[in-house]
Amino acid sequence: MAEILVTENIVGKAMDQLRSQFDVLFEPTAWKNADQLQLLIGEVQAVIVRNQTEVTAELITAATNLKIIGRAGAGLDNVDVAAATEAGVVVTYAPCENSLSVAELTIGLMLSLARNIPAAVADTRQAGWNRGQFTGSELAGKTLGIVGIGRIGTLVAQRAQAFGMTLVAHDDYVDPTAPHLQTLDVQLTSLEQLLSQADFVVCHVPLSDETRDLFNRQRFGQMKPGAMFINTSRGEVVNETALVEALQNKQLAGAALDVRSSEPPAPSRLEQMENVILTPHIAAFTSEAQERVVAAVCQDVAAVLQGQQAVNGFNFPQPAQQG
Ligand code: MLT
Repeated sequence: MAEILVTENIVGKAMDQLRSQFDVLFEPTAWKNADQLQLLIGEVQAVIVRNQTEVTAELITAATNLKIIGRAGAGLDNVDVAAATEAGVVVTYAPCENSLSVAELTIGLMLSLARNIPAAVADTRQAGWNRGQFTGSELAGKTLGIVGIGRIGTLVAQRAQAFGMTLVAHDDYVDPTAPHLQTLDVQLTSLEQLLSQADFVVCHVPLSDETRDLFNRQRFGQMKPGAMFINTSRGEVVNETALVEALQNKQLAGAALDVRSSEPPAPSRLEQMENVILTPHIAAFTSEAQERVVAAVCQDVAAVLQGQQAVNGFNFPQPAQQG
């Protein structure tokens, strides 16, 4: 009988190692079918997911032997952590193993927007040689607004500083005296101030009731005319209808989205817009980040199944006794 269920395509050396130690049921498409998940999860002691499996209270209740849920990534918005905690099940994740890759994609998208790289590539592939059409702008001297200056936001700030950008940030949860902020020349400000000043706005917040639809019509309306917007956090923090309007009325000059309000997304106006860059939630998809992420989660799953503690247990390090 399987001890561990893997419901997405989560592979690598650490997963091979886990499979050599435990009976692992590898079902990389199981996340697509909630009924199948309910059946598969029955007796397993651990389930490992990425971001596509909805680990609901119902699923956790159906898993009568479950000790640990491993989330191969940083966001826990697809896991009902409260239900897992109530059931005594450890939730482990990889809180910082992919931060650098996400930060690098943010910088890549910012450069791509500033220099029209995707449009220039597409035109050149069609035999165009239209240099003037793709005149861009430098990052140096521009203001970068970072919404959410935690681990990823800080890595973005460090890199943007090297480009000679002026940094402003907004974060309701960060301590302005935190040591990591002292080494950065970043001014903490209100969201309204940030939006009115920034030439580029990047978003690095977790999804919560507070951040859902954070970027709505009102917020886009507060942005500096001609600004560019980049989101590599969670799609649901952006109201896509409001974003389309802001691009159509030229409030925004461009946008880059790695994440969408539903994934895969339904076709929308965004795919038709030349000044929009869309990527399929690849921020964490580098070989280095995936190796670190999978290793962190597999190690914690193995530890808990062997009666030891999880290093990255979000709720607790070991399953809690129930009753
Ligand atoms: C994360 O939450 O770590 C990233 O969005 C990557 C992912 O979900 O796979």
